Amino acid sequence: MPAAPDGALCAYCHRDKRWVKGTDHDLRVTAPEAKNLRGETVQQSGICQQCHLVHNARQALRLWARKPGLGQDINEQMCRGCHDKGLAAQQKIPIKKNHPAKVKAQILRQRARRGPVRGFTPLFDEDGKRANTGIISCPTCHNPHRWSPVVMEYGTGENIEGNSRSSFLRNRSKLALCSNCHGMDALFRYKYFHGKSSRKKHQLYR
Ligand code: HEC
Ligand code: HEC
Ligand code: HEC
Ligand code: HEC
Ligand code: HEC
Repeated sequence: MPAAPDGALCAYCHRDKRWVKGTDHDLRVTAPEAKNLRGETVQQSGICQQCHLVHNARQALRLWARKPGLGQDINEQMCRGCHDKGLAAQQKIPIKKNHPAKVKAQILRQRARRGPVRGFTPLFDEDGKRANTGIISCPTCHNPHRWSPVVMEYGTGENIEGNSRSSFLRNRSKLALCSNCHGMDALFRYKYFHGKSSRKKHQLYR
């Protein structure tokens, strides 16, 4: 069973990751010339191994296949190893990037331990691993393997412009995590997370 080009081998075991096919994160669609650390394009490596290398990965965490970029924590650095100037996803660089690193949140629901549940938003410890208590980082809100939180389907094979209901987001309706601390402000803070208006200095009422 081949891992390239469409990741059939990997998806055979990692079933819930198969939806990455045909999305913006299937680099055949958006960045066919980009190369992983082994110097392979997506045609050569397969979809998954543009981000994960099952042999001789750069780091143990997520078996990462690329040089991490800038960022306040390792998960942000993994995303920004592509989403930054001069890199594969330079067309899509969020203006404001992450949640304050000094804030630690907690997930109280027991079910969170057993795997993704509706609206599940993972937190991360200092080593970048998922944890019940930890910081909010890019994969808290985004699941890089699935374009839409609502429909389980492959991507269309075209570069799609995302919005606050697609864009590899996890959240479907409840903003439980955010509203615990931000109350009524949570929806606004979430929807405009990458914009200036959700940030302290720029809020009109202050
Ligand atoms: C564009 C980059 C990218 C591609 C392509 C990608 N992944 Fe990932 N993957 C990530 C990132 C970033 C994380 C860490 C974020 C997280 O925890 O959800 C991750 C996490 C994982 C994890 C561990 C977390 C979990 O949910 O179990 C597995 C397993 C995984 N990916 C498998 C795959 C497989 C299999 C494919 C191909 C079908 C694939 N990935 C394609 C970026 C990618
Ligand atoms: C025979 C089944 C099988 C196949 C095929 C397979 N994996 Fe895995 N993979 C596993 C298991 C089992 C783990 C360990 C899971 C754990 O620790 O929770 C794992 C772990 C991982 C992790 C680390 C997840 C983390 O938590 O950091 C990544 C990334 C990953 N695999 C990607 C891939 C990719 C990419 C391919 C294809 C080249 C692939 N896997 C093929 C079974 C498989
Ligand atoms: C291997 C490189 C790579 C990595 C790693 C990566 N991305 Fe991407 N991502 C891309 C490319 C390429 C696109 C398509 C950009 C374009 O439209 O020109 C994209 C598109 C997106 C989009 C959709 C933008 C839109 O509206 O069209 C989002 C959201 C996104 N990525 C989030 C993330 C997050 C969050 C992470 C980390 C968890 C991540 N990406 C990691 C390469 C990557
Ligand atoms: C609190 C939740 C949250 C976190 C954390 C988060 N994002 Fe997003 N992100 C969003 C939302 C919501 C959108 C959709 C905005 C829209 O299109 O209206 C989005 C959109 C994007 C886009 C597409 C932007 C565009 O121009 O179309 C990219 C790329 C992206 N995020 C990357 C990241 C990266 C990288 C990180 C970590 C540094 C991150 N996100 C952290 C919620 C989040
Ligand atoms: C444990 C409490 C807690 C949780 C949970 C939480 N936040 Fe925050 N957030 C804070 C604190 C404290 C600040 C800094 C003070 C402020 O800006 O109000 C902050 C700041 C922010 C900012 C402004 C950052 C800046 O640079 O000014 C945004 C946007 C934001 N949060 C969005 C979210 C979203 C979206 C969620 C849900 C994914 C969330 N927060 C979850 C406590 C939390």
